[in-house]
Amino acid sequence: MSTDVKTEPEIIFPDVAVNLYKPKNPVEVPIVENRIATLQSSPNFIRHISFDVSGTELEGKVRSGQSIGIIPEGLTERNGKPAKVRLYSVAAPTRGEDGEGKIISTTVKRLVDEDQESQGLFTGLCSNYLCAKKPGDTVKMTGPNGKKFVLPENSEDFNYVFFATGTGIAPFRGMVTDLLEKGVKNDIVLVFGCPYRSDLLYNDFFEELAEKHDNFHYLKSISREDPREDGTKHYVQYKLLDAWEILNPILLKNNTLIYICGLKGMELGLYKLLAQQGYEGYLKVSEEVADKPPHKWETEDLKKNVRPSKRMFLEVY
Ligand code: A2P
Repeated sequence: MSTDVKTEPEIIFPDVAVNLYKPKNPVEVPIVENRIATLQSSPNFIRHISFDVSGTELEGKVRSGQSIGIIPEGLTERNGKPAKVRLYSVAAPTRGEDGEGKIISTTVKRLVDEDQESQGLFTGLCSNYLCAKKPGDTVKMTGPNGKKFVLPENSEDFNYVFFATGTGIAPFRGMVTDLLEKGVKNDIVLVFGCPYRSDLLYNDFFEELAEKHDNFHYLKSISREDPREDGTKHYVQYKLLDAWEILNPILLKNNTLIYICGLKGMELGLYKLLAQQGYEGYLKVSEEVADKPPHKWETEDLKKNVRPSKRMFLEVY
């Protein structure tokens, strides 16, 4: 059960190491694991990739919620210039995959698309480079990056609602592990959205955690299978309505934090529903739309006039 607190606790941000390796001086690290992270039947290619950072500056310094950079060596951008660094969210908990901060991981989706101009196949440079790497191969790594999208130092003082779409689940695999291993007793909710059931990422892992911990709730929004009653797709934000019994008591507490990670644009639907449902503590709404009822907010209103408050953290791409 969530604790109820009278005054909103202060969020104490941890000291976080950043930029230990920059693109000009990356570190070469071996890959130790590269496996499919979805069910085998998924038409998407999403992999869980682990790296051995032992003996480097990164050992023990990379927190859940941060990113690492990968330089796809030897490849060139579309403009012919040498390929630049790409950032990937860390999927490992802060203690690493191994418990000692020596093995860190990420979740990578191969970008495969149609090039609109040439109508040829377009494949993402770095995602395909990384997904093809085998244990023993090495890659050039930079980072860690990001100071803001991390758990507070006083993480036991809060409840958490994590919203993820697709590979946006990576940081939450680490954060949920960090919280449960620390013995946090408050509520932790993970809402995960993906197209089909076969695209659920780390599903067995989260199912097991939910089975084991009464305070961890795992909710899935599968968008392209059965629609919601009103015909709309199951998107993560609709859990505010469809799992109201679980989320409402948690979101009403003043010591609850929201973290959002995944598709750029997903935050707007969430802002709108949070406002519609009266969860104002998570948003800063400018005067221009303050008089307009939230169900009438257009995308432009949301983009220009609604921002996350200090109780909401955002990482979208
Ligand atoms: P859909 O693509 O069916 O519209 P992935 O990255 O694996 O494709 O998953 C992203 C998930 O997020 C999909 O289920 C996708 O649904 C869903 N999605 C797409 N747009 C939004 C949005 N604006 N808000 C919330 N979820 C979204």
